Amino acid sequence: MIPSLTLNTGASMPYLGLGLFKITDQYTMDRTINDALSIGYRLFDTASVYKNEVELGNSLMYCGVPREELFITTKVWNTAQRIGNIEEALDRSLERLRLDYVDLYLIHWPVPGCYLDTWLKMEKIFRSGRARAIGVSNFSSREINDLLLHSDVVPAVNQIECHPLYNQEETRTFCAKNGITVQAAAPLARGTYLGMNNLTHLAEKYHRSEAQIGLRWIIQKGAGAIPKTVRTDRLLENTQIFDFQLTEDEIMILDSLNENYRISGIPEDLTTYLG
Ligand SMILES: NC(=O)c1ccc[n+]([C@@H]2O[C@H](COP(=O)([O-])OP(=O)(O)OC[C@H]3O[C@@H](n4cnc5c(N)ncnc54)[C@H](OP(=O)(O)O)[C@@H]3O)[C@@H](O)[C@H]2O)c1
Repeated sequence: MIPSLTLNTGASMPYLGLGLFKITDQYTMDRTINDALSIGYRLFDTASVYKNEVELGNSLMYCGVPREELFITTKVWNTAQRIGNIEEALDRSLERLRLDYVDLYLIHWPVPGCYLDTWLKMEKIFRSGRARAIGVSNFSSREINDLLLHSDVVPAVNQIECHPLYNQEETRTFCAKNGITVQAAAPLARGTYLGMNNLTHLAEKYHRSEAQIGLRWIIQKGAGAIPKTVRTDRLLENTQIFDFQLTEDEIMILDSLNENYRISGIPEDLTTYLG
């Protein structure tokens, strides 16, 4: 069973979930979700811009796992933020997902000039119960601080790219101080750090893969993670990170790999993004 952490809403969120970016055909979605559910995954991460909410909804429809056991995240895209129709954007996502509520609704990017208004609308959504928790993604501490100064609800989650090559120390520390859970997107840096010497050495010591060492580092930092894979063996491998512990010295070795290396792109239109 995948352990959970507790959000500032009091709800539980599994430490480990499945990222669904780029899984767009129904056959692959069905097979991946079925495999993931039988391995024990309950958290699935999508976004309106991934264009796969319909496929995820279809896969979940007859999956046999009760809705209350699932944890579904989706995100509001930048276009909806500019138009300002955040509630309608969530309604469209819920319709595509065939759900009455999502467990977590995130602002996908801090669109300059929009994200505070978006957050005030997200608060309404939270109060309506159509999102059991609301949060942000790709937000810097400065942008979160803006929300804290001008609104009532503290984001439950900040989903940010986070892995040993981009360890997000400052943002993670800020989030921890403010009761915001960090969830690591692209936690494997899409494979970039697999094969690095220090990781290989630790992988050999613990009889694990380099991916498992990287994911374990994230968990020991107190964050969640949502690696993506469509392979059954890797789905299982990525969950097998809760039965060993890296020492403090080993954590420091992984900390030293940081080079603020970002693998996921920033939307072209976010010209003032500084995070
Ligand atoms: N909020 C945001 O802006 C944002 C940005 C980026 C990502 N995300 C979320 O984070 C999720 C994960 O990020 P990501 O998909 O970009 O990258 P990732 O999870 O870091 O890496 C995925 C890649 O690693 C491979 N992989 C998975 N497990 C592996 C293992 N155990 N050993 C070796 N290779 C492995 C996968 O290939 P196979 O599928 O072939 O196994 C895939 O090519 C996304 O799906 C999305 O949900 C959010």
